Amino acid sequence: MTKAALPPAGWTNPLRDERDKRMPRIAGPCGLVVFGVTGDLSRHKLMPAVYDLANRGLLSPSFSLVGFGRRDWDDAGFADFVRDCVQAKARTPFREETFARLAQGMRFVQGAFDEDASFERIADALRGLDEDRGTGGNYAFYLSVPPKDFPVVFKHLSATGLAHPPEGSWRRAVVEKPFGHDLESAIELNGVIKEVFDERSIFRIDHYLGKETVQNILALRFANQLFEPIWNAHYVDHVQITMAEDIGLGGRAGYYDGIGAARDVIQNHLLQLLALVAMEEPVSFAAHEVTTEKTKVLSAAKLSYPLDETTARGQYARGWQGGQEVCGLLEEEGFASDSTTETFAAITVEVDSRRWAGVPFYLRTGKRLGRRVTEIALVFKRAPHLPFDEAMTEELGQNALVIRVQPDEGVTLRFGSKVPGSAMRVRDVNMDFNYGQAFTESSPEAYERLILDVLLGEPSLFPVTDEVELSWKILDPVLEHWGAGGAPEQYPSGGWGPKSATEMLARSGRTWRRP
Ligand code: BG6
Repeated sequence: MTKAALPPAGWTNPLRDERDKRMPRIAGPCGLVVFGVTGDLSRHKLMPAVYDLANRGLLSPSFSLVGFGRRDWDDAGFADFVRDCVQAKARTPFREETFARLAQGMRFVQGAFDEDASFERIADALRGLDEDRGTGGNYAFYLSVPPKDFPVVFKHLSATGLAHPPEGSWRRAVVEKPFGHDLESAIELNGVIKEVFDERSIFRIDHYLGKETVQNILALRFANQLFEPIWNAHYVDHVQITMAEDIGLGGRAGYYDGIGAARDVIQNHLLQLLALVAMEEPVSFAAHEVTTEKTKVLSAAKLSYPLDETTARGQYARGWQGGQEVCGLLEEEGFASDSTTETFAAITVEVDSRRWAGVPFYLRTGKRLGRRVTEIALVFKRAPHLPFDEAMTEELGQNALVIRVQPDEGVTLRFGSKVPGSAMRVRDVNMDFNYGQAFTESSPEAYERLILDVLLGEPSLFPVTDEVELSWKILDPVLEHWGAGGAPEQYPSGGWGPKSATEMLARSGRTWRRP
């Protein structure tokens, strides 16, 4: 491996001046060690994101990437693997020059999690990078591995001293979900990690927080005068948070069977969205201020009861999607033929605060639904009085503000408007803001933003212990209730979920949106 030019001693990035927020945020010298580097997440998201950051000039010249795994690879073999991942999935164009520069800092360490010698080899590789490339003893350890492997990895990181930074350098741990499978296991897991890293050095990934449209929730709410006055129980009838996916679970049985939709995405992504929508204005955008408000709102969030009526779960059955017949979950490879794992979950949450008293938040997610869409809809109360004949407003629904998280990113405001013509007829129309049309800048992938923030030590977009535990506290009673309730209701693939979900809203005269 050729030696890269070292940054001069005491090098600080001239572009990284905190006072000028217009300057790009560029990570200082450091190494990123990825455990589970050959897994799906790494191949599809992490490796491409690292390349995209390099391509955007946001990594320091000494940035180095260490892959750890069982494969019998050398550094060049690892670089070939990363090249394939990047060429298949990177967001920005492939540039040989960028890749070659990045590849100079790639190392592969072969080993197993339970082997002391493997971690000694990681330590050697990192020492070598400090010397050859000036990584300065700054390392982030990314655990893209099942949580059952966390304890052994953390134990070794501690035993080899890798978790403990010498004066003037840093060590950080990045952990992927699932962060436990209930409150008790999450507390246990937090305990394991905190024995080795302090809270400020732990970065728990919830990749939804890295999405531009999710970060825009706080901009929309707190940078404008227009919305905040109506963002409360006086005007909002209810809130619907939908994360619908059209994909099935073929190939994911190992992770998903026994986990289910509620643990997979409600506990993290959807409750984080709820927190951002329902929280009070933070004192500032400093990480701890935002966290304080999110934690407060999650403490005030409670399930609605009785759970038989306020929740719904389902499992996809055979059906049609995109013109193709697809099989049901029980026929997917790897799933037990009597699996009770839910692939659709919906819950009703209330937030006990003056702002939200009496406003239900309906959260739903599902696989093999009609289309892929994530959105947050604030559905407003009807006008208290309509000075029209009934026939004139037959086509008028409730006003709604819809934050379109993906794929068609933007915001829609739905309101009533007169239909052109000689009579007075009012019908719903949409006013749209669309990212593609409004901005020339394209949105970075969530993982680009999150990896960069880890390397910068910027914690705002990472849930803290309390948020994770409070989310489990909200969800645990539902999981217990469903656990005692036998098999979930089957719903046809390509539809919008089980009948029980429709009934759940119908009880209060409401309907789910059909995005
Ligand atoms: C992950 C879930 O967190 O998010 C997956 O584990 C899901 O089940 C994925 O498919 C969806 O992410 P995105 O960014 O495509 O909405």
